[in-house]
Amino acid sequence: MSIEPKIAELRRLREESRRGGGPERVERQHKQGKLSARERIALLLDENSFNELDAFVTHRETNFGVADKKFLGDGVVTGYGTIDSRLVYVFSQDFTVFGGSLGRAHADKIIKIMDMALRNGAPLIGLNDGGGARIQEGVVALGGYADIFLKNTLASGVIPQISAIMGPCAGGAVYSPAITDFILMVKDTSYMFVTGPDVVKTVTHEDVTFEELGGAMTHNSISGVAQFAADNEEHCLRLIRQLLSYLPQNNLSDPPGRVPQDDPLRMDDALDTLVPDNPNRPYDMKDVIGRILDDGDFFEVQEFYAQNILIGFGRLNGRSVGIVAQQPAVLAGVLDVNSSSKAARFVRFCDAFNIPLITFEDVPGFLPGLGQEHGGIIRHGAKLLYAYCEATVPKITVITRKAYGGAYDVMNSKHVRGDIVYAWPTAEIAVMGPEGAVNIVFRRELEQSDNPEETRKQLVEDYRQTFANPYVAASYGYIDDVIEPHTTRPKLISALEMLQNKRDNNPPKKHGNIPL
Ligand code: HXC
Repeated sequence: MSIEPKIAELRRLREESRRGGGPERVERQHKQGKLSARERIALLLDENSFNELDAFVTHRETNFGVADKKFLGDGVVTGYGTIDSRLVYVFSQDFTVFGGSLGRAHADKIIKIMDMALRNGAPLIGLNDGGGARIQEGVVALGGYADIFLKNTLASGVIPQISAIMGPCAGGAVYSPAITDFILMVKDTSYMFVTGPDVVKTVTHEDVTFEELGGAMTHNSISGVAQFAADNEEHCLRLIRQLLSYLPQNNLSDPPGRVPQDDPLRMDDALDTLVPDNPNRPYDMKDVIGRILDDGDFFEVQEFYAQNILIGFGRLNGRSVGIVAQQPAVLAGVLDVNSSSKAARFVRFCDAFNIPLITFEDVPGFLPGLGQEHGGIIRHGAKLLYAYCEATVPKITVITRKAYGGAYDVMNSKHVRGDIVYAWPTAEIAVMGPEGAVNIVFRRELEQSDNPEETRKQLVEDYRQTFANPYVAASYGYIDDVIEPHTTRPKLISALEMLQNKRDNNPPKKHGNIPL
């Protein structure tokens, strides 16, 4: 018997699976500015690299009239392929089938590729576009979600996990992306919330739109839940590819190297004059970072949240590095609740995935105030301190200007195992700034002075001469060298080379207890 009828049958079934919920529903997606689940995969992966799995899976539910309502693939496209020729696993929810909602079969497909990603040590990418737990499947759907949450947690720190939100992501469904390493949201067409506007209205009487409650900019600038806001779906998928280019496949491998186009010995004289003479004048730390990294490329993460600290990826002589930097142009670069937790999570990510950390420091201290204390600045600041303390990847600091108070300790000082700490000649390393210090230490002298203003000026000047420089710290070996700013790029590259075989361990334990 000829195999042809069987091949024809296979092709027919495959075609049926590809159709998902049908052309009308795909058309509805397009009208909303959204792509279909398969179009997204095609844009995300290298051309023709996708291998689909489980295209013929269907649900087994019989309640609520869904027994005859079956779609091959059950509302999620799963499989593996490559990005820049590197293996990745991907699932892409298909809103055209049961609104992309998740039941047992849909969950099992996702879990299957999560297991494969973990076993084979490759990143997992989830493209989320669905109505949450499939209502007809009841608790079985909730169980499916919980099984995914568990896998997300077990995979955390082993393989990079990336979630794109490309439509609705509501209810408990938000917690899978929330456990993953990075969340990207598409502006105007995606939203995430635990309960929607209707429930909010009933419970708290607040009138809110989908966008206000859980749109891309809400989670990028206010809640800090998301790390990237994409202008549209193509942009979102491009950002995922770009992000992965800095990351290793798993926790046992190194990030991919690139043949550097930028001269490792390149110096930049503009760095010598970038820090203003007046210590209270701001400057843009992105300018510093851009002049030092390869080709000026800084791939910023969480650009819109807690902008007083900058985090992101770049390369130095072709090697991936994670950047943490104060931004003196926003709130003078102070450490507060949000900036501390933002940076802490990033430091831990880099440490988990063997990405060396470069810290650019210009910090006047922790932000004072009732709001901050009541908001738990002690607990949140401790996160960043803890994250730097436990990190064993190569850790290099450049103090460009202020390193005051507890923030000096926190920001990868030698005391918390900073491997190399450089200071620019403009650095001021002390317990606090001159004005604050004089007010406390010389309160009595100032009260008794005939000319308190003149006395204060003199004392501030004395303090500045004594402490507002890098040489006291250098005399204790707390900084390794004072370097001329224009030499920073070659100095960092040389330090990274020196540290490339670094080995450091923490005491064996089940896990630490980071102040959450
Ligand atoms: C089953 C669902 C569904 C769901 C949508 N659909 N959500 N089917 N279970 N959860 C179906 C609809 O019945 C419809 O089918 C199709 O998907 C498209 O939905 P529409 O409502 O027509 O689309 P739209 O107007 O764009 O609205 C999208 C939506 C809305 C906002 C997502 O569908 C919605 O509110 N869905 C329910 C969301 C929800 O409450 N989910 C449970 C969250 S709790 P037909 O065949 O008519 O086209 C949760 C718990 C997780 O997820 C627990 C983990 C711990």
